[in-house]
Amino acid sequence: MDQLPFQSLPLCGILAMSICTYFATLSLIPVLREKFIKANLFGIDMNKKTHKKIPEAMGIISGGTFLITMFLFIPVRFSYYIFNDVNLPRNELDELLAALLSICCMLLFGFLDDVLNLKWRHKLFLPTISSLPLLIVYYINSNSTLIIVPKPFRTFFGLTIDLGIFYYFYMLMLAVFCTNAINIHAGINGLEAGQSIVIAISIIIFNGVELFGKCMQAHQFSLYLMIPFLASSVALFKYNRYPASVFVGDTFCYSSGMTFVVVGIIGHFSKTMLLFFMPQIFNFLYSVPQLFHLIPCPRHRLPKYDEKKNISKPSVIVFDKKELNRLARFIMSIFRCFRVVDWKESDDGIVVCNNLTLNNFVLIFFGPIREPSLTNIMLLIQTICSVFAFIIRYPLASIFYDT
Ligand code: UD1
Ligand code: MG
Repeated sequence: MDQLPFQSLPLCGILAMSICTYFATLSLIPVLREKFIKANLFGIDMNKKTHKKIPEAMGIISGGTFLITMFLFIPVRFSYYIFNDVNLPRNELDELLAALLSICCMLLFGFLDDVLNLKWRHKLFLPTISSLPLLIVYYINSNSTLIIVPKPFRTFFGLTIDLGIFYYFYMLMLAVFCTNAINIHAGINGLEAGQSIVIAISIIIFNGVELFGKCMQAHQFSLYLMIPFLASSVALFKYNRYPASVFVGDTFCYSSGMTFVVVGIIGHFSKTMLLFFMPQIFNFLYSVPQLFHLIPCPRHRLPKYDEKKNISKPSVIVFDKKELNRLARFIMSIFRCFRVVDWKESDDGIVVCNNLTLNNFVLIFFGPIREPSLTNIMLLIQTICSVFAFIIRYPLASIFYDT
């Protein structure tokens, strides 16, 4: 316990610095907004009557303030060791630098996507490359590829299984999933930043609970990244929420996903982190027929705006059922069986079906609603899922693991 003041000093430091990050982001966005439009970095809000230019890729500002905070935090974190001439914890320094390098790469690639509108194959390739610095440091520092087997399976597999190279493959896939999952759960004002805020708060609560447990350092490390990330995202959300005066862009979505990946991997809680991604996992699985082009996938799948009534309705795709292959027909018949799609088929086989996104799914059930109400529902779902995640992580996990 006598170590507590020295351990909590960096946490107090990052907390104070994050308050500055919040105000810096809040004041920088309005200053730079017009410059982005002049540089042709803008989009049109498809859910509004007015088609004015909204600056795009503003995640570069929140990402920038976040990274600057982290760079300034490095000397704060290690000042105790420097001034007292104590050996630096080099492992932690390596992990912090690799984490920042991976996030920085993803921020750059996201900005590239906003500027160049990259193809889908690049969207899979870029997170893989960006996570390499992180995985190399993970290999050098811990190379922990053991997983604990759930109690019911221990008679067959023993207490642990060493996944070896497959664990690295899992981490790469995690990076590809988390970065893209946030980007495709989008299209209404405030959703990209809002979902990231709910996930970040959930991770911070989880780290707070675990801070006095066995893996204190890992959770402390996660807090160093999550607190300033939350501060910069909340400032961005203030401008991105309805009616949006800025768009966060792929820059924010990718870097936000990568920030969650690095804390999950370095903090050794990637499975718990995935529990906070339940809406994104549902959105991804629901989207599979469109993402893999089993049924048509338009450039934008966001809800359709009804200008007269000022409400959002599910957006649809129209296609000929005869053009679908057997796998597509099978998957869509399952979706129809569970009534999760709005499927209208004419006698000549022309089908009108909603775009397969969680936004449209919610609109099918709630009926057409205003865009801010839809965002609120989506963020409420995200929050409920986080509560559910905590229930799985704590009371339920004790059934399967020795917690
Ligand atoms: C992803 C989704 C796409 C969705 C888009 C919207 C998939 C495979 N891709 O594509 O379906 O339409 O995100 O974010 O699911 N926009 C709004 N209001 C908003 C946010 C965005 O109208 O609140 C529009 C603007 O025109 C903005 C554009 O979406 O310029 C940004 O789209 P972009 O991020 O480039 O789309 P993707 O990430 O490729
Ligand atoms: Mg996007």
